[in-house]
Amino acid sequence: MDKLLIRGGTALRGEVAISGAKNAALPILCASLLAAEPLYLSNLPQLRDVSTMLRLLEQMGVEVVRHAPDMVSLNSRGLHNPLAPYDMVKTMRASILVLGPLLARHGDARVSLPGGCAIGARPVEQHIKGLQAMGAEVNVEHGYIHACCAADKGRLQGACIVTDMVTVTGTENLMMAAVLAEGETIIENAAREPEVVDLADCLISMGAQISGAGTDKIRIRGVERLHGARHSIMADRIETGTYLCAAAATGGEVRLTRTSAAYLDAVVDKLLDAGCDIVTERDAIRLKAPARLKAVSVRTSPYPAFPTDMQAQFMAINCVAEGSAVIRETIFENRFMHAVELIRLGADIRIDANNAMVTGVERLDGATVMATDLRASASLVIAGLVAQGETVIDRIYHLDRGYEKIEEKLRQLGARVERIR
Ligand code: EPU
Repeated sequence: MDKLLIRGGTALRGEVAISGAKNAALPILCASLLAAEPLYLSNLPQLRDVSTMLRLLEQMGVEVVRHAPDMVSLNSRGLHNPLAPYDMVKTMRASILVLGPLLARHGDARVSLPGGCAIGARPVEQHIKGLQAMGAEVNVEHGYIHACCAADKGRLQGACIVTDMVTVTGTENLMMAAVLAEGETIIENAAREPEVVDLADCLISMGAQISGAGTDKIRIRGVERLHGARHSIMADRIETGTYLCAAAATGGEVRLTRTSAAYLDAVVDKLLDAGCDIVTERDAIRLKAPARLKAVSVRTSPYPAFPTDMQAQFMAINCVAEGSAVIRETIFENRFMHAVELIRLGADIRIDANNAMVTGVERLDGATVMATDLRASASLVIAGLVAQGETVIDRIYHLDRGYEKIEEKLRQLGARVERIR
């Protein structure tokens, strides 16, 4: 298992390009199941989750052609095996995103239940409830969701769906199911995340009729079929935020290109509060950190509020900031696993249910720590970059799921980082 060795204490400086967004790429790859013509995608990040999704689609009969490292085409003309097996779903929960498109296009799907994961139970009953409202017959047996269109209808039916909570992949799954349904579907309490909008834009370029993506009410008028299209995946706002935090924590100065601050208001506001100077350009963002950050409290909530996927990184920067901060996690019930590892590096953190009280210390000291999930790993990288001496991060396969070429990008910014195989 690969490890990351970081020799901390160097301020990040320079310029680095941000990759395409993992959480936009994964649903958009699944959208290829909806048409029998090729979908050309560019700015596709090279990540472990993306290759897992491509393998999953290939075993269903989707033809995948890689035209360049960040460019693929997918053609699901030969789709024949509407199955997402347990061994793939267990490594990547986003596999659930094949359920809606398979049902809409193939009329039938068997998808393993994802089960819990390190950050929480993460059930999918909202996905199932929405599909049932659209007339699907759904049985959960032997750990698999088996869904099919009612025999007398043959096709999903438009419906009015109000989700019990804001769910990102739930909204995406239902939107993909609805584009080929008969009649109009309305999704209320929809997720407003920019990745939902990117997926809607891709579906619209394939011929779907969708309005309201980016608001909490999405209207979809079903069409008979979708066609091929070209789409460029949006920049990864969480990767952007992570590099901003790394630069901020190390007292650095960076310019991140091929991205923008457009979807990062809540994160940028907090970094300004922490004392950073930030300049936003059309396709880039610059940050200059003060000598020492001020502690900033955050509370996670669905977009446009502060993202749960940036919570761990802000815990890391608070560890070395001046003063105390409270980090409140409201989306996932178990997303503080990085705290105990940060404490191993010398951080002062107290956890009380879904609140973490962080008091900044003068310095962290390198140690061996364990990555437990993707964003937790990112927080350990940030802490390792700040810590004096050597930090070894074990189990970095989590990082490879969501950060493209992380050690190369960090080295480009002057960090002393190497991968130990
Ligand atoms: N939830 C339910 N029932 C459902 C669906 C969701 O109870 O049927 C709960 C979840 O357990 C959670 C909350 O609702 O407590 C919100 O979960 P959501 O469904 O929005 O999460 P997700 O769609 O599974 C996506 C991202 C996550 C990100 C969350 C929240 C993808 C592939 N994943 O997950 O990204 O944290 O939205 O923004 O888009 C990551 O990239 O590291 C990551 C975990």
